[in-house]
Amino acid sequence: MQVIKTIKKMQATSLNLKRTRASIGFVPTMGALHEGHLSLIRRSRRENDVTVVSIFVNPIQFGPSEDLNRYPRPLQQDLRLCMQEKVEYVFCPRPEDMYPEGFKTFVEVRELGAVLCGASRPTHFRGVTTVVAKLFNAVFPDRAYFGQKDCQQAVIIERMARDLNFPVMIEVLPIIRERSGLALSSRNAYLDPAQKKDALVLSKALSSAAVLIRGGTRDAARIKRVIRTMVSAAHSVKIDYIAIVDKQTLKPVKKIQDSCLIALAMWIGKTRLIDNIVVNAQNRKAG
Ligand code: PAJ
Repeated sequence: MQVIKTIKKMQATSLNLKRTRASIGFVPTMGALHEGHLSLIRRSRRENDVTVVSIFVNPIQFGPSEDLNRYPRPLQQDLRLCMQEKVEYVFCPRPEDMYPEGFKTFVEVRELGAVLCGASRPTHFRGVTTVVAKLFNAVFPDRAYFGQKDCQQAVIIERMARDLNFPVMIEVLPIIRERSGLALSSRNAYLDPAQKKDALVLSKALSSAAVLIRGGTRDAARIKRVIRTMVSAAHSVKIDYIAIVDKQTLKPVKKIQDSCLIALAMWIGKTRLIDNIVVNAQNRKAG
């Protein structure tokens, strides 16, 4: 496994790989790798000749009062995990290389970046799309892998790749959860045991909502009320948003027709957690 630290070296490496016609799978991450990240890496390994994992805690996607400084950075452990997964290249650029003095260009996906998480994190998604565009221009991947855990991010990146003609296939893979139902997240490390227990209401509320929809409930407001009641029972949890939206446009749905995305964001102490589920009402089955 080779660790690459500069954009120039990454570009040169990828261009060489392209000359040999090797397909490149790419998994962008901010490190603190867990089974969610590993599921993306494993898929990339299966589908491509070579896999590149990037580890970069991207400063421009954090708001001024967010957790950039305390975000976990267990680099040696991450490199060990990548090695175990037989990743060929780990790309760890430095912030000064990604954002040198004079940096002025941002990529913004309008509308989709302003709703849901974008409403409470107004500069977050332009930070994500800007870094992912820059990473694509360093790695030149054939396929790039993202998790449904960050469902809005996945929709926005698909849109960006189409709008800007990136010659890359975006693949979105399912949420990996603990046995308890809690969606894996690098931010779970911030939770103390009591908070971690309270955090289970997110996945529980989503499962209950799916049961209601499968049972024939179609009124989104009613489903949101049920979720709010369940979540409010956990005293340490504060609601950021509960949304039932179309899974492509992210526009609110009032009457659930075929499928919908239920997305939640909650504060537990100083930690903001998100979770979501796609429910297919027609099949009466959660997906
Ligand atoms: P990060 O939070 O490290 O996540 C990297 C990728 O892993 C994302 O595509 C995310 O959706 C996926 N992921 C995280 N938890 C998951 C889980 N429980 N199950 C499945 N996939 C999961 O998302 C980012 O980093 C950044 O915004 C990034 C795209 C790297 C840009 O900086």
